[in-house]
Amino acid sequence: MIGFGTWQLRGRAGRQAVLTALQAGYRHIDTATMYGNETEVGRALADSGVGRDAVFLTTKLPSSRADRERATLAASLRALGTDHVDLWLVHSPPPGRKLCHVWQEFLMLRDQGRARAVGVSNYSLAQIDRLAQVCGETPAVNQIPWSPARHDPALLAAHAERGVAVEGYSPLKGTNLADPVLVDIAKAHGVTPAQVVLRWHIEHGITVIPKSVNPERIATNFDLMRFSLEPDQVARIDTLSPR
Ligand SMILES: NC(=O)c1ccc[n+]([C@@H]2O[C@H](COP(=O)([O-])OP(=O)(O)OC[C@H]3O[C@@H](n4cnc5c(N)ncnc54)[C@H](OP(=O)(O)O)[C@@H]3O)[C@@H](O)[C@H]2O)c1
Repeated sequence: MIGFGTWQLRGRAGRQAVLTALQAGYRHIDTATMYGNETEVGRALADSGVGRDAVFLTTKLPSSRADRERATLAASLRALGTDHVDLWLVHSPPPGRKLCHVWQEFLMLRDQGRARAVGVSNYSLAQIDRLAQVCGETPAVNQIPWSPARHDPALLAAHAERGVAVEGYSPLKGTNLADPVLVDIAKAHGVTPAQVVLRWHIEHGITVIPKSVNPERIATNFDLMRFSLEPDQVARIDTLSPR
């Protein structure tokens, strides 16, 4: 439920941030071909001494590589230093005429053991329904932007009805951490507003993947299991969205 986001983490600092995250206890890392950091993620994993089987690794295919799925996944696996990922996502919807083709390649590569599960990112409900009804299978996951300001109960319910797990991205970037509602609830629990935001995702069953390069923030963003939000606190945070 709590992963480490790695967008914009590059080079030595990126590798160090992923290592710090693994040492802090994260066991889920979110990367992508487009982030250009799969080698650093793989090296950090090797340096950490944490076993491959203990870590949930996600990477993503850029839709610009829609005709090179197999080769792109092979390059990801080489860079990550593994023979499979736990979750492989289509990073964004390819043009409509390629939607099924890409998805069927994903299903095939999963069936061949290269990815334990496959999913999508930035897909609409209509696109998800097309995968299910026309292209053969419902995706396991849709990774989409989520934060208190973007909270959309109907969209969340529609994913749940379809059996698609929601992974929220940019949970903090889109959030005013000085909002009095968040500050007030944070004070009540003796935690930071960022921790409240991340925990609120978990209360809604949304997987959360915050990114940080700062060791202290990496650690506090992961420290979400020693408190929980009361239903009325969740409801107050829900009101930060116009929906
Ligand atoms: N599928 C997609 O299309 C897509 C798109 C965007 C993101 N993602 C994934 O989602 C992950 C998270 O999203 P994101 O990186 O866009 O945004 P984010 O995790 O919401 O926010 C990252 C920003 O917040 C700061 N930050 C982190 N922890 C903080 C804290 N405790 N207090 C205050 N500021 C804090 C970070 O700065 P410092 O680093 O200085 O701490 C950074 O500037 C990405 O890394 C990527 O893995 C996926």
